[in-house]
Amino acid sequence: MFNIKNIAALAAVIAQIGVAIAQGGAWAQCGGKGWAGATTCVSGYTFYSQCIPGTALPASTKTTAVAIPTTLSTSKVPAASTTPPATSPTGGPLSVGSSTGGTGSIDAKFRAKGKKYFGIATDQGLLTTGSNAALIQANFGAVSPENSMKWDATESTQNKFTFSQADYLVDFATKNGKVIRGHTLLWHSQLPNWVASITSASTLTAVLENHIANVMGRYKGKIYAWDVINEMFEENGSLRVDVWSKVLGESFVSIAFNAAKKADPQAKLYINDYNLDSATYAKVTTGMVAHVKKWLAAGIPIDGIGSQAHLQAGQGAAAQGALQALAASGVSEVAVTELDIVNAGSSDYVSVVNGCLNTPKCIGITVWGLRDPDSWRASNNPLLFDASYNKKAAYNAIIAAL
Ligand SMILES: *[C@@H]1O[C@H](CO)[C@@H](O)[C@H](O)[C@H]1NC(C)=O
Repeated sequence: MFNIKNIAALAAVIAQIGVAIAQGGAWAQCGGKGWAGATTCVSGYTFYSQCIPGTALPASTKTTAVAIPTTLSTSKVPAASTTPPATSPTGGPLSVGSSTGGTGSIDAKFRAKGKKYFGIATDQGLLTTGSNAALIQANFGAVSPENSMKWDATESTQNKFTFSQADYLVDFATKNGKVIRGHTLLWHSQLPNWVASITSASTLTAVLENHIANVMGRYKGKIYAWDVINEMFEENGSLRVDVWSKVLGESFVSIAFNAAKKADPQAKLYINDYNLDSATYAKVTTGMVAHVKKWLAAGIPIDGIGSQAHLQAGQGAAAQGALQALAASGVSEVAVTELDIVNAGSSDYVSVVNGCLNTPKCIGITVWGLRDPDSWRASNNPLLFDASYNKKAAYNAIIAAL
């Protein structure tokens, strides 16, 4: 969902830690249903639903003592060729459909109950830091790229594709037998200005189709599921007013899903959103469910609905009803795609896990990051591992429940 975008943004966030967390970090959410967090942004960022880059970062925030690989900065990565190379990124056997958290792990126990994976969001900068790679290897069965497959990371300049960070994640996953969820192809945020400023329907269609063909095409056969569209609904269930709906009306949905189907026919194609956490909420009923029913009837190749599940404390109990409502839209599968819960209460986490277990179409759960301090909601300690890479009570409660 909303995350640190590049080294400069990360530096800006790090510069703020311990100073004031009353402000949202780079790309942090600053609003929305039930939002009780920051409504202003750190220096260099401007509030516009999220903290988007608004002014040049001060020079002093561009360097940091924290060791971060230079490859974390997309701006420093040479643009790749626009044509995917004949050879795929190096890696082992394809991980599509397999999942390999160690014996007794949260992933192994979840799969033993008939589910496909229990996964985690990460990326190169984290996988090359601390115990992230080892803990993901041991405990989880799937990975989602937190940022590296977003439009601003993959095609910040038109038709110049940059895949080094995404390749790193895909290589890690294939070598270690992890399922991969691709995230995301069409989104209003972390979208370069050259796209957001397009006003011609034919140009925007061609740009979208080219983006999907290149990004999905590079990893064809390696990615289990893609979030084709991310966060396209308003809270009242209407379409978000952004470049996609303004220029293309609702047709961007069929354009995107048909392009995705063409690029990788085996991948499961998802529509993903947040605040899909209660069965009776308008964004679920008149938004996601009503629209997906209609689009499926029209033959648009949507396989799944992703519920991000960025929850407040106490919201876990409604998860099962919400997942069942989403499943009833007629999609073949649903998934919890970006789970984190304010204060990481054990009963909330266990409720979400049970909600997925009790929803036959729910195939997996992804937690949005490993360690609290690396979360986009770091001040809420919403994840399953603490700053010292220790399993928290919620992790152990899930293990006990499984
Ligand atoms: C739904 O919410 C959006 C965003 O707040 C608003 O622009 C739109 O007018 C609303 N639609 C209805 C039907 O209330």
